[in-house]
Amino acid sequence: MSHCSDPHRPQYHFTAPQQWINDPNGLIHWNGEYHLFYQYNPHAAYWGAMHWGHAVSRDLVHWHHLPVALAPDKDYDKDGVFSGCAIVHDGKPVIVYTGVSANGMQQFPCLAYADDTLRTFHKAPENPVIHARPDHLVHDFRDHTMWHDGEWWYQVLGSGDGTHAVAPLFRSMDLISWEYLGRLIQSDDAVNEQLYECPDFFASGAQHVFITSPLPMRRVVYMSGDFNGRTFTPQKRDYVDHGSSFYAPQSFTDATGRRIMFGWCQEHGGDQLSRALGWSGVMTLPRIIALDDAGKLTYTVAPEVTVLEDETLAHGRDITLAQAQTLLQHVAGDALVIHATVSATTTCEFVVRYDPQSKEQTIIRWDAEYQTVICDLSQSSLNQNCVREQYRAPIHRDSSSTLTLSLYIDHSIIEVYAGSHTVFSLRVYPTHPAQRCTIRAQELLHISELVVRSMKSIV
Ligand code: FRU
Repeated sequence: MSHCSDPHRPQYHFTAPQQWINDPNGLIHWNGEYHLFYQYNPHAAYWGAMHWGHAVSRDLVHWHHLPVALAPDKDYDKDGVFSGCAIVHDGKPVIVYTGVSANGMQQFPCLAYADDTLRTFHKAPENPVIHARPDHLVHDFRDHTMWHDGEWWYQVLGSGDGTHAVAPLFRSMDLISWEYLGRLIQSDDAVNEQLYECPDFFASGAQHVFITSPLPMRRVVYMSGDFNGRTFTPQKRDYVDHGSSFYAPQSFTDATGRRIMFGWCQEHGGDQLSRALGWSGVMTLPRIIALDDAGKLTYTVAPEVTVLEDETLAHGRDITLAQAQTLLQHVAGDALVIHATVSATTTCEFVVRYDPQSKEQTIIRWDAEYQTVICDLSQSSLNQNCVREQYRAPIHRDSSSTLTLSLYIDHSIIEVYAGSHTVFSLRVYPTHPAQRCTIRAQELLHISELVVRSMKSIV
C-alpha cells in the first residue's frame, strides 16, 4: 500500500520508510544535526531481528532517512542490537547498545565507534564491554543511559533481580573496563515493576529525574528526587504520558540546552492491520521536558513544530460554544492542530477524528468539576480489534477554571497536551474518513481562543 493511500499513516510524525519500529535510540545533537536512531526490523511489520535504523534532521521536524546504522552481525549481538544511547567520548561519538545472543539469554553492553559525521560505525573489538551480571541480576540486562562527571563515565542499565526491577549503576574511564557501584534504584512494587526497561537519568537543577518503562506494567513513569552519587531517592512520581500506546521514551540535551524527548507509540489497531499496512510504530513529536519548582515534569511541543502549521481553517477569540461550533462546521482534515483556551465549570468535549455518518469519534473530555481530562476511544473506530480504552488524568489547571489544550491530530496518532503537566498519546483507526471536529458542552462555555490549522506533511 502506498503511503498516501494509507489513511492511517501519519504525515507529520516520524515513521520508518516501512516495516516495524520501536524505541527511539541514541538521540544526539551533533555538529548541527539531530540524530534519531530507532529499534528497527527491516524485514517485517512486527518485532524481530532488531537493527538500529537511522535518520537525521537539522530542524527537529524534517527527517532524512539514512541506511541502517547497526545490524545484528556479530556472535555477541546476533539475536538483536537492542536499545541504547549515544555519547561523545574524547571528542568522538560512540554508541552504547545491548548486544543480544544465546536466544535472548545473553544481554550485555556493547560499543560502536562512529566517524565524525555519524554515518559509519564499527563495533569495538572488546565487545561486550560488561560480560558478567553482578548482584543477582536477571538475564534481562539491557538499555543504557550515561553521563560524564570528572574523569568518569557513569552508566545505568535496566534489569531486575527476579522479584523487583533494578537499575544497576557502573562507572568507567575508558568505556571498556567497568566497575559496578550498586543499585541506583530498585522498585518496591513487585507486582507491576519486575523489570525496568529503557532507563533515562539526568540532572535538572538541584534534582535528578529517572524515567523508565517498567514491566509488566508497560506504562512510562518518571520520578524526581535526590541523587547522592550512588543511589537515587525519588520524591515525586507520575506517568510521563497518560495514553497506553506511548513507551520507551528517550531524552537528550541539545546545543541550546533544552531537554528533548521522543517516545515510541505502538500500533493499537490489531496485528492484522499492521501486517496489512506494512509498517508499524510512530515517534511522538519532540517534547521539551523540564522540572518545575514542585519537582513535576512539564511538557511543551518543541517550538520548531510550528513551521508545520499551515492554513488557518478556523480562528476565534472570546467566543461562545455556538460560535465555536459554527466555526468548526466546515473544518475537515486528518492532519490538523487545534489550540484552544477554554473556561468551564462542568464538562466540555473536543470531538475529533469525527465522522457524522459512521458516528466514529474520539472524545477529549474536560471535566472541570473533577479537574480531570478523559480521552475516550470507545467510539474511535468500528473496527473491533482496535484498543478502545478511556484514559484519564488529573489536570493542574493553568488558572482556576481555564484549560489550555493543544491537539496534534495526524491520521492514526493524536497527541493531547492539556495544561503544562499532562500529555496523552492516542492511536485511533476510524474506518471512515473521520475528518471532522466539533465541541460539545453542558453549559455556556467561554472560549478565549480557538485556532485550527492544517499541518504540512514531512514525508
Ligand atoms: C523496550 C525494549 C527494550 C529493548 C528493545 C528491544 O521496548 O524491550 O528493553 O532494548 O525494546 O527491541
